[in-house]
Amino acid sequence: MSVATEATLIAAHGGELVDRTSERPADLESLQTLTLTSRELSDLDMLACGALSPLAGFMGREDYEAVLETMRLAGGLPWALPVCLSVAEAPRDDRVALVDAAGKAYAVLEVEEVFEYDKEREAQQSFRTTDASHPGVARLYEQQPLYLSGTVTVFERAAAPFPELALDPAETRAAFAERGWKRVVGFQTRNPIHRAHEYLTKVALETVDGLLIHPLVGDTKSDDVPAETRVECYRVLLRGYYPPERVVLSAFPAAMRYAGPREAIWHAICRKNYGCSHFIVGRDHAGVGDYYGTYDAQLIFDEFEPHELDIEPMFFEHSFWCRACGSMASAKTCPHGVDEHVFLSGTKVRELLGAGELPPQEFSRPEVAEVLIEAYRA
Ligand code: ADX
Repeated sequence: MSVATEATLIAAHGGELVDRTSERPADLESLQTLTLTSRELSDLDMLACGALSPLAGFMGREDYEAVLETMRLAGGLPWALPVCLSVAEAPRDDRVALVDAAGKAYAVLEVEEVFEYDKEREAQQSFRTTDASHPGVARLYEQQPLYLSGTVTVFERAAAPFPELALDPAETRAAFAERGWKRVVGFQTRNPIHRAHEYLTKVALETVDGLLIHPLVGDTKSDDVPAETRVECYRVLLRGYYPPERVVLSAFPAAMRYAGPREAIWHAICRKNYGCSHFIVGRDHAGVGDYYGTYDAQLIFDEFEPHELDIEPMFFEHSFWCRACGSMASAKTCPHGVDEHVFLSGTKVRELLGAGELPPQEFSRPEVAEVLIEAYRA
């Protein structure tokens, strides 16, 4: 049997996996400090390990403008969302220490540029709305008024909320290579895995070598299911329903932007860096409220030339259990009417779980629902 190597996996975005980790500098104590928000800290950690390759730091004006206007970096490589560091004023020196709210230092930034930006324009371009009730837009409006760009060197990695699930891109790549996988599909989620999500992952897995279940564990909005509860759901589900030799479960350290279509592109590019050749995009990927059309996050992939992204999106229609089919299905594969389809709104599901009741098992595996009921009780 031939053994796959890292060389047979998809290349990182831009060609090389970036590594911005290094030793703690001797002059750290003498540097001016800059406090990062938790979203900026998660971006920093992703810059450190190459999850945001080819970026080696927070974006400068040229890249920022190009990303907003063309969904590409200034050099032409696809990139969908700004990765910027906001500051109140220009730093005094040309190197600053990046610290968290408690004053713990993580990295040094070599100052390149400080520039003004227009929040409403960024909102419109990134989120397709300037409405402050959109959670991503609200976060943008709270930012400091200037952007500071520059390469980062990270000497202290952020504490991983789930250390056993913390795999850097080089580590997921090594895990795939060790298993002999070449074609790997990545699955982004910020929810417990219900039957519809399970269906997408398994249909996708049928056609590739392996599956990376890659739940986002950075900041989410307060009414999303917390990551601790979700991780417990993933564990019980994997234990009972997935072949361990075909699945890697790992945490994606990013914060959620809720930017729908543009975030789908961004999510795909990040997963390419983790070694995925394919990426699942279903209904309203990374959406919130009714800001985006159900399939906008799929249509946006048409704005790139074939192979420009390299990672292959796998699109799925809205999926559900059909009683007449006796299986999971979608409008693409099921001829029956909606009255045969098991559909529950998020509100209905929360109501059932809050009352300690299991949703229909066609919607959610009882093992998963029990973890959620327990979390609601607590
Ligand atoms: S997301 O914000 O991370 O996209 P979620 O965890 O709900 O939210 O979805 C993970 C992935 O599953 C996304 O690609 C989403 O489009 C897809 N998805 C979720 N539910 C369905 C469904 N019922 N049918 C088809 N795709 C779905």
